Formats: sequence, C-alpha cells, structure tokens
Amino acid sequence: MNVSVKPVRTAAISASNIDASYDKVKILKQAGIEIEHGKITTLIGPNGCGKSTMMKVFTNLLNYQRGQVIINGEDIAKFTTRKLALELSILPQEPITPPNLSVKDLVEQGCYARVGALGMLKQQDHDGIKQSIHKVGLSRYINRDVDSLSGGERQRAWIALTLAQNTKILALDEPTTYLDIGHQLEILELIQGLNKKDNMTVVMILHDLNHAAQFSDHIVVLNDGKVVTSGAPWDVLTVDLLRGVFGVEASIIEDPVHGTPFIMSHKSILNLK
Ligand SMILES: Nc1ncnc2c1ncn2[C@@H]1O[C@H](COP(=O)(O)OP(=O)(O)OP(=O)(O)O)[C@@H](O)[C@H]1O
Ligand SMILES: [Mg+2]
Repeated sequence: MNVSVKPVRTAAISASNIDASYDKVKILKQAGIEIEHGKITTLIGPNGCGKSTMMKVFTNLLNYQRGQVIINGEDIAKFTTRKLALELSILPQEPITPPNLSVKDLVEQGCYARVGALGMLKQQDHDGIKQSIHKVGLSRYINRDVDSLSGGERQRAWIALTLAQNTKILALDEPTTYLDIGHQLEILELIQGLNKKDNMTVVMILHDLNHAAQFSDHIVVLNDGKVVTSGAPWDVLTVDLLRGVFGVEASIIEDPVHGTPFIMSHKSILNLK
C-alpha cells in the first residue's frame, strides 16, 4: 500500500497560550498567533489592546508568564540575542535614535545585530547598507544626522536598518507611522515586494484597515489582550467586527482595483466619557 504522508508545516512563528503582564497587570490573556512562512500577517485591534505587547513577546523583548513561543521549530527561550537577530529583524513602535548618528551609521546597526558588535563588516554588508538606504529613498541623506530628519524620513531610516539585517522574517510595529499617503503605499509596496520576490515572512501591526486588507494574506484581530478572530481579509473584516471591536459603523465594498475589502467608516459608536 502506498501511504503518502503530508509534511508537517512548521510556522515561522508560533506563540500559544501567552499570558503577559506589566507590573502584575495582565495584558495578554491566553493569546496565540501563528505566522506562516512566506506570508504577510497583520495584527489589528484598538489602541491598548496588546498588539505591541504581543509583538514584543514573540520577538523576545518581553518576558511572559505563561505559554510558549516557537520560531522555526525552536523554543525562543533557548535563543541567544545573536541567534534571534539572524532569524528576524524588528522595527519597534517608537524606536529611540541615539544622538549624533548618521543614516549610514544607524542602518549599519542592522548588520552589527547579525555579525555581533565586534564583528567585521564585509563588502557585501556595505553594499547591503547602501541598497537598504536606496530602497527607502534616503540615498541623498546617507550622511545626514538621523536627528535632523523629518518624522517620516526617520521612520524610513529605521526600516532601512531592519532591511540591512537581512533576515527572512520582518516584524514591523506600525511601519507607516508618520508617513504621508504616498510614502505609506511606497513602504507597503516595498514590504510586499520583499515578500513576493524574496519570499520574506512579514508580520506587521497596522491601524489603517484598508491597507491591512490590501497588503495582508492573513489578519489577526486582538481585543482586550485576546485574539478574537483571524483569517483572510474578506473573512475577518466584517461590519459586525468593526462595530464590536472598533466601535465604528461602517460599510464594506470591494476595492475595484485589488478586489480586497474596502472599509468606509461612517460614525463612531464608542463612548469614551
Ligand atoms: N511598559 C509598560 N508598562 C505598563 N503598562 C504598559 C507598558 N506598555 C504597555 N502597557 C499597557 O499595556 C496595554 C497594551 O499596550 P500595547 O502597547 O500592547 O497596545 P497596542 O495594542 O500596541 O496599542 P497602540 O495601538 O496604541 O499602539 C496598554 O493598556 C498599555 O497602557
Ligand atoms: Mg502599539
């Protein structure tokens, strides 16, 4: 008898049953997430629901009290900082730029994360740094102090740092913050290009639900520290979800260009008082 066994696919990142707290206040409550290889997964949810906390957990920036995080089949608890830097690069929500650092110096840090602080950069690293800066459109500012850049330019310099790290997984917490609509789309198209052409695995956090719909294979919705639903954009983004999770009355139509859900928000039904 010919028995074919389906290969078991390991997720790029799998976090299960996570409880995580700050100062004993529990934020994540048995939250779990699967990030598939070669896909774009986007976390959405209202302010304060735990999206950044979740990303900190599965990128080893925050200890958790319960649960497990597996990256490429290995428990993250056993990872050294260097090993993790070879697997994934991270753009935090509000990265702090050290003073007196040029764009080139900042982006170089992506390479040092990979080779270690005392490591030597090779010609290919220097080429990678220049290419990363070029990809985000900052070549003309390569020697400028990061402090002297506008908010959007600074954000793009940080994205270049994550690209220069040259990992297969990118974790981006609100990569389009501070960017105008043209640069938002440019950065999301760049991320999509890295995913499609270089098969990079991307996990990001976005607030713009139409961008989430357009650029994601998979959307994970967090609310009050729990994953409430996940799946393909058309399955996840519903009028009920917008009402129940985001407190918004909305209509959803089909984007005539991309065929993805397009949300028209009409009215807030949140009661913040
Ligand atoms: N360092 C911290 N110390 C104490 N509480 C924190 C800390 N960081 C976050 N929190 C709290 O944890 C909760 C979740 O925060 P988190 O940053 O994960 O939210 P978020 O979903 O990313 O929100 P946003 O969309 O505003 O970025 C919030 O109530 C926040 O006030
Ligand atoms: Mg956040």
